[in-house]
Amino acid sequence: MTNQWRITKTIDTDQPADRLFDYLSRWDNVVEWDPTAFFGRKLSPGEPAVGSRFVITLRFGWRPVPMTYTIVRMERPRLLELEGRGAHFRALDHIRLTDTASGCRLTYEVVIRFDRHQNPVASRIGRYLFDRYARTTIRRLQRMIDGSASPPALSPVTRMADRAILPGLIGFTRLGHILGKRRRPVASALYVGRTMVLTGGTSGIGRAAARELVHRGANLVVVGRDGEKLKGLLDELGRLKNGGWIETERADLSLMAEVRRLADRLMRRHKRIDVLINNAGALFNRYGQTDEGVERTMATDLVSPYLLTVLLLPALKAAGSARVVNVASGGMYTQGMRAGMLDAEPADYDGPTAYARAKRGLVMLTEDWGNRWADFGIGAHAMHPGWVDTPGLEASLPAFHRQVAPLLRTPEQGADTIVWLAASPDAQRASGRFWLDRKIRATHVFRHTANSGKDRRDLIRALDTLTGMAAKT
Ligand SMILES: NC(=O)c1ccc[n+]([C@@H]2O[C@H](COP(=O)([O-])OP(=O)(O)OC[C@H]3O[C@@H](n4cnc5c(N)ncnc54)[C@H](OP(=O)(O)O)[C@@H]3O)[C@@H](O)[C@H]2O)c1
Repeated sequence: MTNQWRITKTIDTDQPADRLFDYLSRWDNVVEWDPTAFFGRKLSPGEPAVGSRFVITLRFGWRPVPMTYTIVRMERPRLLELEGRGAHFRALDHIRLTDTASGCRLTYEVVIRFDRHQNPVASRIGRYLFDRYARTTIRRLQRMIDGSASPPALSPVTRMADRAILPGLIGFTRLGHILGKRRRPVASALYVGRTMVLTGGTSGIGRAAARELVHRGANLVVVGRDGEKLKGLLDELGRLKNGGWIETERADLSLMAEVRRLADRLMRRHKRIDVLINNAGALFNRYGQTDEGVERTMATDLVSPYLLTVLLLPALKAAGSARVVNVASGGMYTQGMRAGMLDAEPADYDGPTAYARAKRGLVMLTEDWGNRWADFGIGAHAMHPGWVDTPGLEASLPAFHRQVAPLLRTPEQGADTIVWLAASPDAQRASGRFWLDRKIRATHVFRHTANSGKDRRDLIRALDTLTGMAAKT
């Protein structure tokens, strides 16, 4: 019986060969498109080169199969060859990229060689599964590069789960993240060379997103308010860097004056910004005002992302196909938002309510921008990370943090959809929506939270008046 399996597939895409090559040469990215791969890490430091090694763990059924891959040939951007070693077999992955009139053609050949002869029945079953996995892998790789054939939409099952509250809440936990993994749309290959600005990257979800974006080769500007934390983060990200560059910017985002100065600096340094991620946020249990006289929760969670996004609009327009990712919260399901709520009276203040309203406001902005900014090629996306174990959650809701501790997601799980939205071609075809775990979710589960186009415009007018941006957006 043969002890070698071989399969060859081709993909035609409108992406340039060098961009695709850079992505594929970071072989640990294979976890995104190979359904059998669930863990991948680069073992060698620096840029991928001949000799670079990767550890990839595959899973067949419940059995983990650890593999070590080495780049054995590399001619950028045409040819990439890797050799993988498992316990009883070797894999040779040979990838060739050739230019076409509209982009490039990727030819992918995999050869599996077994160290021992196999029994004929096991070999036949194995061969059948290998063909199936190879077809799925290539389909996922194609989708990751070009997006799906049809734009994503809110599925009736998801809508029902959201409305039924309990399944919706289970979806917020680490279980929800793990259960949805198999059917999750694949991530894009297109991070390299893109300039991304991320606020609140010094802690929790933002820090995990920063690590992943840098690992995927993005050029990243991280905004934080604490110089020491930014310095530590820069050291950490420097070790993970994968071809892109990293910068840090310091600003207290609860203050409009600081947001303006930050936007000025960013606009001077970067003519184009491909992705803005408004992640910084906080929940204050006690009423307080900023030095500019704005209630702190609204200032940090709604006014600041609004002002920063609007000020950066020229750089987002200049990018051609930019996107804004707003980190909202499932808490917003409990509240509606109106312009008059920007200004809570101290006696009426309740931290979780103010937080939920601010996040609802952020989703309303996303819906409005999704409509109005399509002509500029700008996608606007709101997401919620689920319930995530972060310093922010522990400080603001200590009792809740203690009670649901075993169910909380890791910061990486919380950041997954942010990172996905930053580059997915699919997401860009469904602008103005609200996402969890790479899927569109319902924006309302209670009738009292509904809002109209007029409510959204009134909110924007009030934000314009507060920030002095009137008539500019
Ligand atoms: N954790 C959850 O379960 C959960 C659920 C739903 C939504 N979210 C949202 O996810 C986002 C990240 O939260 P997290 O849980 O990762 O919290 P976190 O650990 O407290 O991180 C929040 C980040 O925002 C920054 N930040 C806060 N106020 C700022 C200000 N005035 N100026 C500049 N930066 C400021 C923080 O800076 P410092 O490092 O200096 O504090 C930190 O980097 C927030 O928008 C939050 O509302 C979280």
